[in-house]
Amino acid sequence: MNVLNNLVIYLEENGDCEAAEVLSRQLGVPISDSMGEELTLVFDGTGLSLVGCGMRYQGDFARMLNRVTKGRLHHEMLVRIAKTKAEHPVAVDAAAGMGEDSFLLAAAGYEVTLFEQDAVIAALLKDALCRAGQDERLREIVGRMHLIEGNSIALMPQLDISPEIVYLDPMFPPRKKSGLIQKKLQLIQKLEQPCADERELYDAAVSLRPKKIIIKRPLNGALLAGKKPSYTVKGKAIRYDVVVL
Ligand SMILES: C[S@@+](CC[C@H](N)C(=O)[O-])C[C@H]1O[C@@H](n2cnc3c(N)ncnc32)[C@H](O)[C@@H]1O
Repeated sequence: MNVLNNLVIYLEENGDCEAAEVLSRQLGVPISDSMGEELTLVFDGTGLSLVGCGMRYQGDFARMLNRVTKGRLHHEMLVRIAKTKAEHPVAVDAAAGMGEDSFLLAAAGYEVTLFEQDAVIAALLKDALCRAGQDERLREIVGRMHLIEGNSIALMPQLDISPEIVYLDPMFPPRKKSGLIQKKLQLIQKLEQPCADERELYDAAVSLRPKKIIIKRPLNGALLAGKKPSYTVKGKAIRYDVVVL
């Protein structure tokens, strides 16, 4: 099912009309005079949101401030795994989603290139990055985040950089139990299928010759592309498989 067939754009008062028209042309999705029946991209005075399933979702990096301030950043599992002595560390996030993990890496000093293949998620992420760029508490961090819209399998090998890290967090296979994380991602999950090209994604990551590939998986999920990691770090609901190259 192509989700774009069931998607409309709706402009509320104070919404950015020009941005709505640009996105409408880019996605081939109409601007409607009412909310859609299934999924709606809403432009209002706060920016761009996705509305559907009785929920409204907007990327907001300000919500992550409490994870990166007051010495809390270094308690983040991903940041601990990504620790490096490099003066100007570089990371590639090959499956960016709403960029939250990239934000943690950028807060830790990484210059991060993010790839997002889904045009709707990319639009939401772009909007969140743009708003964060106007917030002086976030500006420096998001200034290190560089979004490229497209498929990282095709585009990553063309990058002319030697990253410390390539980070892989493609969509987990669906779980039976509906947990908190799943609820938060429900809307986003409507937009994409679990990763079907794990091997290609892994090989594209290797082609950049990073020092490490960090792979986020469900705690008891299968290995990505069946690749055995050098080591694994486990959290409560997820684990990181780390391949040292
Ligand atoms: C689980 S989400 C990532 C969440 C992200 N780590 C975060 O912190 O917000 C996976 C995302 O990866 C994207 N994705 C999967 N494979 C991709 C690829 N080959 N190129 C670009 N984006 C990809 C999907 O569209 C989806 O938005």
